Amino acid sequence: MGKVMITDHPLIQHKLSIIRDKDTSSKDFRTIIGEIAMLMTYEATRDLPLAEVKVETPVAVASTKKLAGKKLAIIPILRAGLGMVDGVLNMIPSARVGHIGLYRDPETLQPVEYYCKLPADIGEREVIVVDPMLATGGSAIDAITQIKKRNPKNIKFMCTIAAPEGIEALSKAHPDVDIYCAACDEKLNDHGYIVPGLGDAGDRIFGTK
Ligand code: PRP
Ligand code: URA
Repeated sequence: MGKVMITDHPLIQHKLSIIRDKDTSSKDFRTIIGEIAMLMTYEATRDLPLAEVKVETPVAVASTKKLAGKKLAIIPILRAGLGMVDGVLNMIPSARVGHIGLYRDPETLQPVEYYCKLPADIGEREVIVVDPMLATGGSAIDAITQIKKRNPKNIKFMCTIAAPEGIEALSKAHPDVDIYCAACDEKLNDHGYIVPGLGDAGDRIFGTK
């Protein structure tokens, strides 16, 4: 079973309260969801391997450490996952970016795939899939199933708000995938929305409603 990490750092909790507020503008929502993704990257990359290096400072030679050349790919689930990409890239500028387009059919709540473009060398990379919302888990499960067909080294899933139902479904479908979220909310409502959640993340990022 993959681990579930709730990254409830005070800065993240504060920013999450702002984006939950229905009166927060799309501009502020976009900025802050990117900042949360940046802060969450700190936790999601905690296990990256390091290599010993020697660096000449102006004073002496320091025995120190650098990342051991691990290659990463960030894969947002369109649309809302796009809001997290820049925040992650701020911390890992050399990461490649793939895209998976999925939307939830409003009636069946089943994910419908409409786009998939992944880095050619994904087989040599560790993947972080990003999407602000893990509700029923259908979109994340489907995206990760598609990505696994290309044999990446490892997959992590990073979201801002998860529902217990989504965590359970994703852990069951992909027990090898670690889940990072900033909050686990109470439940889903009858329309598959997270309660209390923050509403429709895509609409709030792009101002489409
Ligand atoms: C939202 C969200 C996730 C999905 C989560 O996307 O960004 O991708 O719903 O729900 P699930 O866990 O029940 O699958 P949506 O389908 O609204 O598409 P959008 O990002 O294009 O708005
Ligand atoms: N997708 C969203 O954007 N919000 C939810 O609460 C559930 C699914």
